[in-house]
Amino acid sequence: MDENLSGKTLRRVSCVAAIASNLGIGNNGKLPWPSLRTDLEFLQRITTEVRDKGKWNAVLLGRKTWESLDPTQQPLPGRLNVVISKTLKCPPCGAHHVCDSVSSAVQMLSNSPFNDTVEEIFVLGGTEVYREAIESTYCYRIYLTEIHKEFESDTFFPTFNKNTYRLVSSPREVPQGDIEENQIQYRFCVYEKQG
Ligand SMILES: NC(=O)c1ccc[n+]([C@@H]2O[C@H](COP(=O)([O-])OP(=O)(O)OC[C@H]3O[C@@H](n4cnc5c(N)ncnc54)[C@H](OP(=O)(O)O)[C@@H]3O)[C@@H](O)[C@H]2O)c1
Repeated sequence: MDENLSGKTLRRVSCVAAIASNLGIGNNGKLPWPSLRTDLEFLQRITTEVRDKGKWNAVLLGRKTWESLDPTQQPLPGRLNVVISKTLKCPPCGAHHVCDSVSSAVQMLSNSPFNDTVEEIFVLGGTEVYREAIESTYCYRIYLTEIHKEFESDTFFPTFNKNTYRLVSSPREVPQGDIEENQIQYRFCVYEKQG
């Protein structure tokens, strides 16, 4: 469902992140924790799956998150990759587009031809990209993989209002219950904007 903002119809977006119990999301340009297979599979599935096989989804990534990807994953396959940067004037090698804010990316994707070809928009971080999305009117959902352990981090998920975004009980689209991999326990949570 789209929503109306300042007279313009903007698409809604979802954020997807994995966070440690100290809110860490990154360290030295990488994830702070060893690979978590189920989480990586979930990220791949939720951002790639479409109901309409003639469409694809868009992913929005901050410049450093883009640079943190393995070159074999640039672009993230099967998705329209939009890099968010104020310094880049053209898309980095492999990316499809560059936009100077999350809002300008969402505006671009709300217009022709993207409104006909892009099914869902996912915001994949990092910190300020998540913050801009979460504080916007067009963000409606946050998929959070909550890791029950602290990890040394230099990059953190922004705090958000849990009255504005409420925890959804047993959402269908995420794996249920506690998961343990590499001796790390975690759980998939979904927060949805109220009203
Ligand atoms: N755990 C997770 O789910 C997760 C998800 C994503 C990333 N990460 C980790 O987080 C780290 C990278 O995140 P980060 O926060 O350091 O960097 P980032 O957000 O990926 O990239 C920062 C850059 O993106 C651009 N940018 C960010 N917000 C913007 C905005 N609102 N408008 C315009 N441009 C904006 C700027 O680029 P310019 O300087 O070019 O203007 C900024 O310098 C890595 O360690 C990565 O592995 C973890």
